Amino acid sequence: MPVTIPVIAVDGPSGVGKGLVTRWLAQRLPGWHRLDSGALYRILALAAHRRGIDLHDAPAVAALAPALDIRFAGTTEDDEGIWVDGQDWTHDVRRESTGALASMIAAALPVRAALLQRQRDFRQAPGLIADGRDMGTVVFPDAVLKVFMDASPQERAERRLKQLSAKGIQATLAPLCEEIRARDERDRSRSASPLKPADDAELLDTTGLSPEAVVSKVDLLLQRYRLV
Ligand code: DC
Repeated sequence: MPVTIPVIAVDGPSGVGKGLVTRWLAQRLPGWHRLDSGALYRILALAAHRRGIDLHDAPAVAALAPALDIRFAGTTEDDEGIWVDGQDWTHDVRRESTGALASMIAAALPVRAALLQRQRDFRQAPGLIADGRDMGTVVFPDAVLKVFMDASPQERAERRLKQLSAKGIQATLAPLCEEIRARDERDRSRSASPLKPADDAELLDTTGLSPEAVVSKVDLLLQRYRLV
């Protein structure tokens, strides 16, 4: 019988603490791989934008996906380095403006289809921790554990502001909060893979929780699901 490589799916909107949870999981589960699926959407959007492709032209954007040489260079304390076609795109990919471009292309079915196999290719032994919007619903519906995270938009904007300023990226709260609301609305209301919990997902609302409290809840889930 073929052995199924386990996947832990961590889904939810931006700024909810998925990065914290997936980095912690990667330490808790030695050797497990990580997929930052949002980075793939960001990279594809940025690559299309830089080539002057109209981001509403979904087939043209999707056609770019197979050819891009994407490498995630070693996990650091913070985010991973991102290399595209031999160039360091780490900083540009993480910008808020790139997130907005990614959200635009992510609504289109041809784009999602083009990235589907690329995401599944990350499933390698001993296991995969996958971070995104539709990991538990579409990309890895057979994930052994599905966590769906949420938090209030205000709190997510505040966290995002802190993360950005720690990276030396300037932003202000009000437009960031507005941007987060608009992106949520797009992600939740699109017809292709809308942002929503899988029926069998564990819901984790992190509003008002410290990072320590969040990871201890996830640790309890690992124990309940006999993954540690
Ligand atoms: O998680 P992030 O902020 O890096 O994601 C950027 C955008 O990509 C987000 O607005 C929605 C989209 N995305 C998606 O549609 N599906 C995923 N699995 C991951 C990201």
